[in-house]
Amino acid sequence: MEKKFKRTLITTALPYANGPVHIGHLAGVYVPADIYARYLRLRGEDVVMVGGSDEHGVPITLRARKEGITPQEVVDRYHAIIKDSLKELGVSFDIYSRTTSDLHHETASEFFKHLYDKGEFTVKTSMQPYDEAGGEFLADRYVVGTCPRCGKDGAYGDQCEACGSSLNVTDLINPRSALTGEPVKMRETTHWYLPLDKWEPALREWILEGHKEWKTNVYGQCKSWLDAGLQPRAVSRDLTWGVPVPVEGAEGKVLYVWFDAPIGYISNTKELLPDTWERYWKDPESRIVNFIGKDNIVFHCIVFPAMLMAYGDNFQLPDNVPANEFLNLEGDKISTSRNWAVWLHEYLADFPGKQDVLRYVLTANAPETKDNDFTWADFQARNNNELVAILGNFVNRAVVLTHKYFGGTLPAAGPLQPVDEQLIADVAATRDALTAALDTFHFREALKQAMEIARLGNRYLQETEPWKLAKTDMERVKTILNTAIQLCGNLAVAFEPFLPFMSGKLCRMLGLENLSWNEIGRMDLIPAGAQIGQAELLFDKIEDDAIAAQLRRLQDTKKANELAAWRPEPQAPEVDFETFEKCDMRVGTIIECEKVPKADKLLRFLIDDGMEKRTIVSGIAKFYKPEDLVGRQVCFIANLAPRKIKGIVSQGMLLSAVNSDGSLVLLAPSAPATPGAKIG
Ligand code: 2FM
Ligand code: ZN
Repeated sequence: MEKKFKRTLITTALPYANGPVHIGHLAGVYVPADIYARYLRLRGEDVVMVGGSDEHGVPITLRARKEGITPQEVVDRYHAIIKDSLKELGVSFDIYSRTTSDLHHETASEFFKHLYDKGEFTVKTSMQPYDEAGGEFLADRYVVGTCPRCGKDGAYGDQCEACGSSLNVTDLINPRSALTGEPVKMRETTHWYLPLDKWEPALREWILEGHKEWKTNVYGQCKSWLDAGLQPRAVSRDLTWGVPVPVEGAEGKVLYVWFDAPIGYISNTKELLPDTWERYWKDPESRIVNFIGKDNIVFHCIVFPAMLMAYGDNFQLPDNVPANEFLNLEGDKISTSRNWAVWLHEYLADFPGKQDVLRYVLTANAPETKDNDFTWADFQARNNNELVAILGNFVNRAVVLTHKYFGGTLPAAGPLQPVDEQLIADVAATRDALTAALDTFHFREALKQAMEIARLGNRYLQETEPWKLAKTDMERVKTILNTAIQLCGNLAVAFEPFLPFMSGKLCRMLGLENLSWNEIGRMDLIPAGAQIGQAELLFDKIEDDAIAAQLRRLQDTKKANELAAWRPEPQAPEVDFETFEKCDMRVGTIIECEKVPKADKLLRFLIDDGMEKRTIVSGIAKFYKPEDLVGRQVCFIANLAPRKIKGIVSQGMLLSAVNSDGSLVLLAPSAPATPGAKIG
């Protein structure tokens, strides 16, 4: 039997404040969490949603170093961008705080101290990479060297990006510091460890026996961690940026970012509700739901629960962790460092007033059970074919017709006919499916059901055709339009969790206030005689040029990434001077140039080489128009043995340079040269 809880605490993964948030964060965490919070509020439940920025961790210090600013300046910048953009998207946090706050530092510090005093940690000394020039220990990511597997230089201490191998720092050949470039030395250091193995039986029981209802991706990942056997985990690091380890002799050490970040959920609740926060954390009649992405599962289902169990004092474990998979962008993994993302703050600037469109598309396409792809074509299609054509169209028709026939005053409904009763029954069934989907975190399905109500509305108007009846049976038209407007009221409620801006507009049009989930299915939400506002456009078409602009931006990013990743080809083996001299290179002038029939890549040139005219075939057609080349000078190899290409004998080869993107440019003398002049 389902447990009944008195209140719900919703937590959202704390995004790292080393960059803005993107659609991957939104689809994975913030949009579903917000839908759930809004739904529970509409049900009249006691619900609190907390979030904040994760402001510690090595990537933030590295970014600061790169930009020559302090880590605090980095997190101040991104915390503000993240907080403002999530607010503008309508994510209804009760609090959005940050882990550099004093309250969080105190809370995390106290948490560690409590475990320390209870003897919950073990202490271990190990050898870690140390940068003597910089005078600091290095995280694995900041050690670079030659990959022992593929031999490429520039592999990191945890991974070689060239061949994809996972590595340990000690595997690297010639390991050096990414910060100073100096060789890395291994040095002894001591850290505190949380013995996860001690908590393994309790975690097994709690998850594998007690939470079989969790999403299969979450349950499965937990099971494989548990089956592999848990190991003690270090909870401190040799760094200066973070929450200092609050014990004597721990100078220069801070709490590991994954130790302090989840405690952020507690600090945020405390900051919001200084007097009553414990109700949400320690009362067994409260429940905690963690919204996260799949890369965070182990920390939320294994590590943080072990920390809470070790702490004791009635701290409750999460009741559910509905983690999502990843969202890709146009077929590629979203990446902050490669700038392969749709950034929320940029979206809001590019598509003002279209918050709901993004919320809709990310929910309709949410990576709930597997990784999914966001494409701009799908974004446009869902807006134009679903939001505009189904939802916007129905509301618009209902409101416009009410104005046309009744001057906007809602007529009273008369006796119902079977078609009206069928509609009411269909809406009730849809509401039940919608509610069931929300209760089980199936937000895609829930959105589909909400949309079904709009589809039912369109079908109803199509079937009843009030515009035809208006000539013969005005009484019937009154019933139909009353029903259609009540349905608009139903849509305002059903869509509030998903599309709060649209819902707000609709409420203003219909004069609805204080929505409640129980109202879905009711056909008396708006009293007869109420004045309905003029039809406002709920959604408008997104044109091709807006989409093309987004695709162009991604194309530019791709090009910039290719350029950044490009390395010149390794130098060819040495040749002696005599060998070089055998190659006769010259300057010539192009007399004729034309495409080679049935060969996309080839151009045929006639070159004045100072002696006679020679034909050369070159694979350069993609990069030049033949007519632009006539009269220009080129460099060519004159004594290459003639070769037949597409039936044409080519007497030599034009010299060209191959760019990072594979494009070719012809080499030419920097000033006019005599045709036939030797190059050397
Ligand atoms: O993966 C991340 O982006 C982490 N900053 C999430 C932290 S969630 C929590 F525990 F605070
Ligand atoms: Zn490699």
